[in-house]
Amino acid sequence: MHADIATSHGSEGEELGRIIDGSAIARRIRDKLAVEVAGLAREGIVPGLAVILVGEDPAGAVYVASKERACIEAGMNGITIRLPATTTQAELLTHVRALNDDSAVHGILVQMPLPKQIDPDTVIRAIDPMKDVDGFHPINVGKLLIGEEDGFAPCTPAGVQELLIQSGVNTLGKDIVLIGRSNIVGKPMAALLLQDHLGANATVTICHRYTRDLPSHTRRADILIAAAGRPKLVTADMVKPGVVIIDVGINRVSDPSAPKGYRLVGDVDFDNVRPLASQITPVPKGVGPMTIAMLLKNTVRAATMRAARSAGRSAAATRQPA
Ligand code: GUN
Repeated sequence: MHADIATSHGSEGEELGRIIDGSAIARRIRDKLAVEVAGLAREGIVPGLAVILVGEDPAGAVYVASKERACIEAGMNGITIRLPATTTQAELLTHVRALNDDSAVHGILVQMPLPKQIDPDTVIRAIDPMKDVDGFHPINVGKLLIGEEDGFAPCTPAGVQELLIQSGVNTLGKDIVLIGRSNIVGKPMAALLLQDHLGANATVTICHRYTRDLPSHTRRADILIAAAGRPKLVTADMVKPGVVIIDVGINRVSDPSAPKGYRLVGDVDFDNVRPLASQITPVPKGVGPMTIAMLLKNTVRAATMRAARSAGRSAAATRQPA
């Protein structure tokens, strides 16, 4: 990886275009978690993550397989329940309730998107909030918004915040512009960055499809986080020199010369934006690996908090930087 971390230099001599290596940062977090999991094993606790995948979505199947592998590698239990695309909402809810009641399961994740016949909000609300390691349940969304730290933050925005911290990016008082207002990334990302906390205390702007004059916002950004799901939406003329770029986009674009017939690209025109940025995440190997690392981290926390509750300890483990 290091061979392609060539850097250029800006007019003031600062290093430009440094790659934020999400794979390496995620690896460090997973190694640390494996040590923590080994400690829990000595107390007879094996954190368990259950993932439910409904249907045959190929991208979903790839993510789910890598989640299971990552769990096992960290010494945790990873189980995957694969259900047909024709599964009814009632059938899915039966599985969720069984996992809520299963003491070997500490974290539950239902892979999104779900087939049309299933209402995702109903499914999310059925998950025990204390097993909701995705951080999608309204209880956890509310806790995140009011800054209560005994809930779970969604994994992708938590991973972005961790990338910023681990890359030495100071967010305090900075102008951070987000593109995208989804419940999975944009909105929880804003909530995390607004807290009075390390890796936060920023001035946050959320842009979306109805934002007028997007470049006028993005050009002000000290840190620009793109999560719109639109390939190469962010071009070089939209950023200010020295910006830190976090690209959350994972878009498949067809490429007949690629072995699979497609390539993954982000929301940022990487080649042209990189020379202007002080630091930038690549796609793949930027934000993606962090999502899984944070999922494991949430699951280990779910197990630790359960152990603390059953031991009657009131000081439950709160969210901490990795
Ligand atoms: N689909 C894409 N990202 C996610 C995620 O973070 N959690 C779940 N459950 N589904 C997803």
